[in-house]
Amino acid sequence: MDKLIIRGGRQLHGEVLISGAKNAALPELCAALLTAEPVTLTNVPRLQDVATMRRLLDNMGVKTQTHGERGGMTLHAANPITPEAPYELVKTMRASVLALGPLLARFGEATVSLPGGCAIGSRPVDQHIKGLQAMGAEITVEHGYMIAKLPSGRTRLKGARITTDMVTVTGTENFLMAATLAEGETILENAAQEPEIPDLAEMLIKMGAKIEGHGTRRIRIQGVEALHGCEHAVVADRIEAGTFLCAVAATGGDVVLRHARADHLDAVIDKLLEAGVNVTDLGKDGVRVQAASPAYDYLQAMSFRTTEYPGFPTDMQAQFMALNCIAQGTSKVTETIFENRFMHVNELVRLGAHIQIDGKVAVIEGVRALSGATVMATDLRASASLVIAGLVAEGETVVDRIYHLDRGYDQMEAKLRGIGADIERIK
Ligand code: EPZ
Repeated sequence: MDKLIIRGGRQLHGEVLISGAKNAALPELCAALLTAEPVTLTNVPRLQDVATMRRLLDNMGVKTQTHGERGGMTLHAANPITPEAPYELVKTMRASVLALGPLLARFGEATVSLPGGCAIGSRPVDQHIKGLQAMGAEITVEHGYMIAKLPSGRTRLKGARITTDMVTVTGTENFLMAATLAEGETILENAAQEPEIPDLAEMLIKMGAKIEGHGTRRIRIQGVEALHGCEHAVVADRIEAGTFLCAVAATGGDVVLRHARADHLDAVIDKLLEAGVNVTDLGKDGVRVQAASPAYDYLQAMSFRTTEYPGFPTDMQAQFMALNCIAQGTSKVTETIFENRFMHVNELVRLGAHIQIDGKVAVIEGVRALSGATVMATDLRASASLVIAGLVAEGETVVDRIYHLDRGYDQMEAKLRGIGADIERIK
């Protein structure tokens, strides 16, 4: 099991290339199932989750090949395709549920394993099932699998108005993909607005889909008979960018994040500016972040609560909490999306942070310095927050179980070393 060894206290200076977004690449890989023609994605991040999704598609019979240094991947879901997503693959990645909508839309059937729980909460897929049933699918759950098919006599899903009980990102993506080939109009009434949704919609439109309102709460899709191939560049990863913003804010320094989109990070950048960090939108050239150190002398700890986009993203909660640990003052962090997304707290406390949890709220009292220790990653974004804390902690920090980090960050330690961090991976 790989570990990261970090020696804290180094400022970060230079330039980082932000990779394509994990949470855009995963649905966009599944979108290739919607056509019998080849689809090419570029700027695909090299991540464990992308490799898992690729294996899942290979397993169905999709031909995939990577090419060129631009992170290119071509996928060809020519017939025959086996519309199945088996447990041994799905259990490692909940996003496998994104195969359900496309398989149903194109093939009229799908057998997809239930995702099972994950570290940050139960994360059911009941809303995915509800929405696809509204579109005419018959879905039963047997032996841990969702068995989905169309009623006899029907060859296509039918358009529907879908209102989910809560905003769901992958639910919105499943309905969006399914609706492109359904008969008639589909309206998603409380759609997710995360930037990965408009990016997916733009790709589907290039494939011939008829979509409007993507990026707003209400998306309308007119179904078409078939979609064709396309080439699409995966949007930059706003969470990777936000993670590096917090890292530089914590260590001090001056770094340019190439390809980062400031317009996808408003809530996070607003909080960092309020805290006293200098963040500059360089337009198409990315985002620049400058901060002095030690953070305790220059930054105010900021309270925030996570909400759906465009609010403060839950995927940035752990990283910003690490910053609050060493900024001045007391802050409150409220996690409203997931019921168990504070597992980084105990590990941060091992590094000397002062944090109290009361249900959905964590209260952090900033300290002047953290001290290095051995800590354990528990989920993707928690591991990122431990890396940030290790970059500022005095002495050596060992972050164990970093396979969690590898799921969602493309060569994080190499990128950090490239801007001056003392960090290395040991097998
Ligand atoms: C997506 O997960 C992201 N993953 C998550 O990123 C992100 O944290 C989350 O959206 C929220 O922004 C991908 O895009 C691959 P939801 P998703 O459906 O779609 C409940 C990361 O770190 N819910 O928006 O699974 C659910 O339990 C990952 O990159 C139901 O109850 O999240 C949660 O409380 C972690 N039933 C809330 O809704 C359902 O059928 C929001 O979940 C669906 C969701």
